[in-house]
Amino acid sequence: MQVKTVPTRPIEGQLPGTSGLRKKVTVFQQPGYLENFVQSLFDVLPGLAGNTLVLGGDGRYFNDRAIQVILRMAAANGVGCVLVGRDGILSTPGLSDLVRQRHAFGGIVLSASHNPGGPDGDFGIKYNIGNGGPAPEKVTEAIHQRTLTIDRWLTLDSADIDLGRLGETALGAMRIEVVDPVASYARLMQQLFDFERLRALLARPGFRICFDAMHAVTGPYAQAILEGQLGAPAGSVINGVPLPDFGGGHPDPNPTYADELVARMCAADAPDFGAASDGDGDRNMIVGRRFIVTPSDSLAVLAANATLVPGYAAGLKGVARSMPTSGAVDRVAQALDIPCYETPTGWKFFGNLLDAGLCTLCGEESAGTGSDHVREKDGLWAVLFWLNILAVRGGSVESIVREHWQRFGRNVYSRHDYEGVDAAVARQIVADLRTALPTLAGRTAAGLKVLRADDFAYTDPVDGSVSRGQGLCVFFDEGSRLVLRASGTGTEGATLRLYLERFEPDTARQAVETQAALQPLIDAAEALTGLRARSGRQRPTVIT
Ligand code: G1P
Ligand code: ZN
Repeated sequence: MQVKTVPTRPIEGQLPGTSGLRKKVTVFQQPGYLENFVQSLFDVLPGLAGNTLVLGGDGRYFNDRAIQVILRMAAANGVGCVLVGRDGILSTPGLSDLVRQRHAFGGIVLSASHNPGGPDGDFGIKYNIGNGGPAPEKVTEAIHQRTLTIDRWLTLDSADIDLGRLGETALGAMRIEVVDPVASYARLMQQLFDFERLRALLARPGFRICFDAMHAVTGPYAQAILEGQLGAPAGSVINGVPLPDFGGGHPDPNPTYADELVARMCAADAPDFGAASDGDGDRNMIVGRRFIVTPSDSLAVLAANATLVPGYAAGLKGVARSMPTSGAVDRVAQALDIPCYETPTGWKFFGNLLDAGLCTLCGEESAGTGSDHVREKDGLWAVLFWLNILAVRGGSVESIVREHWQRFGRNVYSRHDYEGVDAAVARQIVADLRTALPTLAGRTAAGLKVLRADDFAYTDPVDGSVSRGQGLCVFFDEGSRLVLRASGTGTEGATLRLYLERFEPDTARQAVETQAALQPLIDAAEALTGLRARSGRQRPTVIT
């Protein structure tokens, strides 16, 4: 088959962010948009020729088209072999696992994570390196630089490949292997968790679970593992069929968007355990009966109970959390006498720590938890981890969290998102607080005294690289903190995130409602930033 060289010229807006290149589907549908980006990627990967790539996505609208384009371009660029999930489906952690198990050169994930899908929704493409994790900044920066000068892309004139059938085919000189998206991942889960105990838990009379796949990629994974291998009754997985538009929903597992799950978990006949995952399967939400677990608490609970789980029985080397994540896990690390790392937002920063063996568990307040088993956060893994803890300890989700608070204290925590804010206004709000930071110490805002304030910077302990400007932090008396940062993953206007945290050691006061407990901090944030007034919002778009 003859390689075709298609002349092109640079297209604006191809800067991959922390989670890859994320844009509206309509942007990706512009002629040459996807091709320019993929060719730029191939052009900056020395050593790719003759090697293996893993390719798959969360099944959202445009997934199938993009896969066919990428396969032809990979063949034309001399890639040796591409492993593709059946029907083009691979969850993000599933892809990370395959890259590692098959010692692939890298992987391409097609997803916009938790952003809505469909013709008017979002699409995205992200490159993962050979460790299975998101490409570091030097790679994404090289891709971006290449998009600025690109003048041609390579493809083959060939028909679409049938991705519905498992097995091998060829495209020119390139081998294509269509793999079962679940098989390898399920084997990994069997190594980490006590499947026999999980089966016994799910067989307990009256014990019921509900996993909401939100019509996204974890449907087939959850059905195969929870219902198939662990024997949860059919129907334990809801919204299990992946749809190109996620059934019109917003596949983000939080109390706002996973409202169907939350309603079921609040009903009189609620199941014992509820969970949900996002578009590409890397996020998780854990819910007990009428009790939602805050992601920061979830990470801390997993760390404190890790040795109950076979894969972590030998103990943890260390833990890591992103800066805006609450300090709950820090308290566990202190008790276990293991290191706790504080990284900027975004999973890629954990990769170096995991590769260097410095930590075992890591997590973010945005419902991402994971470990050294892959190099992405992993939604279903977190669900199995919780079930394994429940199987060993007994009790309920709520009792496990409350006992945790009794022992370690409670980091009362909430995130307020202001979505779709005018970009210029948002920039100014952040810039003004940044300018004010050096003057804040000693000042009082809404009755709270500021101890110190800083613009978070991170020096990677492994490679020494420095990331600055990662979020504005204001620390108050009594272990309270607020953080303001602009989202790097939104596709419309700007999203500002306000992270609020207050430490409550007093068991009697731990039961207080979260927003009420944080009200003084919420007022202080408004006093310091004028966020609501200046963005013209009465309240946040989403509270998690
Ligand atoms: C958000 C989350 C962050 C996560 C990222 C990718 O990024 O806040 O923790 O790593 O999505 O899932 P943000 O939009 O805040 O930049
Ligand atoms: Zn995701």
